[in-house]
Amino acid sequence: MKYPSLQPIENPGRQWPGKVLARAPRWCAVDLRDGNQALPNPMTPEQKLEYFKLLLDIGFKEIEIGFPSASKDEFDFARLLIESRLIPDDVTIVVLTQARDHLVDRTIESLQGAHAAVVHFYIATSELHHRHVFGLERDALLDMAARTVRRIRDRREEFAPGWLGLEFSPEEFTDTDLDFAVELGDLVIREWRPRAGEKVILNLPATVERRPPNHYADMIELYGAKLKARAQAVISLHAHNDQGCAVAATELALLAGADRVEGTLFGHGERTGNVDLVTVALNLQSRNIATGLDFSRLPLITDTVARITQLTPHERHPYAGELVFTAFSGSHQDAIGKCLAKREAIGKSFGCEWKIPYLHVDPQAIGRSFERFIRINSQSGKGGINYVMEREFGIKLPRELLLDFAGRVQKLADQQQRELDYGQLWTLFDESYLNGKGPYHLERYYPRPDEKDPTHILAEVHLGVRGETKVLRGEGNGPISAFVHAVRQCLPFDFAVVDFKELSLNKGEDAKALAYIALRGAGERTAHGVGLGTNIDQAAVHALVSAINHLSGG
Ligand code: KIV
Ligand code: ZN
Repeated sequence: MKYPSLQPIENPGRQWPGKVLARAPRWCAVDLRDGNQALPNPMTPEQKLEYFKLLLDIGFKEIEIGFPSASKDEFDFARLLIESRLIPDDVTIVVLTQARDHLVDRTIESLQGAHAAVVHFYIATSELHHRHVFGLERDALLDMAARTVRRIRDRREEFAPGWLGLEFSPEEFTDTDLDFAVELGDLVIREWRPRAGEKVILNLPATVERRPPNHYADMIELYGAKLKARAQAVISLHAHNDQGCAVAATELALLAGADRVEGTLFGHGERTGNVDLVTVALNLQSRNIATGLDFSRLPLITDTVARITQLTPHERHPYAGELVFTAFSGSHQDAIGKCLAKREAIGKSFGCEWKIPYLHVDPQAIGRSFERFIRINSQSGKGGINYVMEREFGIKLPRELLLDFAGRVQKLADQQQRELDYGQLWTLFDESYLNGKGPYHLERYYPRPDEKDPTHILAEVHLGVRGETKVLRGEGNGPISAFVHAVRQCLPFDFAVVDFKELSLNKGEDAKALAYIALRGAGERTAHGVGLGTNIDQAAVHALVSAINHLSGG
């Protein structure tokens, strides 16, 4: 057996499958901590601040702002928010720390002056972690938890009642012996000695998603049932998405009695990410549950997060993806069109406002619109452009070319401040890569195999250079390298061929060959060229000349 076998969770009092969620949980956004620590380029303090304000605009009331003991930047960010009074009265900030005395002290120092804050500490409680990574046994973890709670509690007394809250995470909860996790939770609450009405957040993470969603739900339901101090606990979920089921796991665990959900916008976070709060919240909204979060301007949120994180949600990402409200199939378009025209009457018959084929929510409610066709504008992502190029013109763009072309499309759409029609899209492609203007023009190309060694190619190139024909000769181990050697002789700059692909051209029966070439010139400049020809060699040399024209600045 390659992986440990998963036993079903014994949950004789299982209730959650028969439940229906009636209200939204408390939300805590961990984008600025769990999300940020997993970004290829972590946010600058300015970006963190912009992101923090975005989370406030959406309506988050609990925001984990970072790990202040981990670095000066993280510490300073907490200070900035507090000293500049950027935290609204009804918002609580959360800060994460390890269960180590000096880190706890530094964390509390970062919070001086905050009107409401939660210290969140965590201990890895799975056997895999505590025994094999840290070499500690359970008793040591219980001691560590008790000591850490006492240390925070002692500092709490320095401040006004209600100023400082506590959160504890048994890291790798779903891989932890459940009774041990419960024992820890009760100990943390006991040691904290909550004041009347006060609760401690017990955050139960699926740090790595190793189980199916129903197991998470069972574990949460059992945990709540076994915890002696349940009335003083807020049970919080924190699902990661390694098996792609974090949203499902969170929804089922909410049925199982959890009170609070931690996650990030669009699921940023370690590896496959944290649970995506946009999807969970909008799923609840689609079931008429008020979430307290405002996603009515989702495209703005998506663009802001994509700009800051430098990661754009996938085109098919629920709710936010560029293509998720576009119908490609004619029959889908037809059904949607017909029912939109009688939307009110249909709604009446179902006792609701929105029931439309293929669109489970009203796109306008989240700032989107139903698209019959892909619209190409400055907001279009690569997915839409790729789709139109393939469907309308039969050309499948390789990724590097698509990236370059998407930048050009955005620039042109920005300049003309309106959408591009498909004709304009083609003209831009043609001028950018196919018939790019410039000093060089391919008049003729004659490659022929060397008589002594047919694998060796001798080439004669007739190249127009600013209107004057030059006849150039070169040789190489293939038609393209022979061409390159020939034309190099008359160019005032050097270049290297860094990519060459034959492109599929699936339009028309007499389709010619289409080739893509990328050249790298001085200063790491890359130029892309596409060429059409009667065969792949002719197409490739046309692509080369087009890219050479770009490199020459033409
Ligand atoms: O995934 C996790 O276990 C965490 C904890 C630190 C809460 O992020
Ligand atoms: Zn996490």
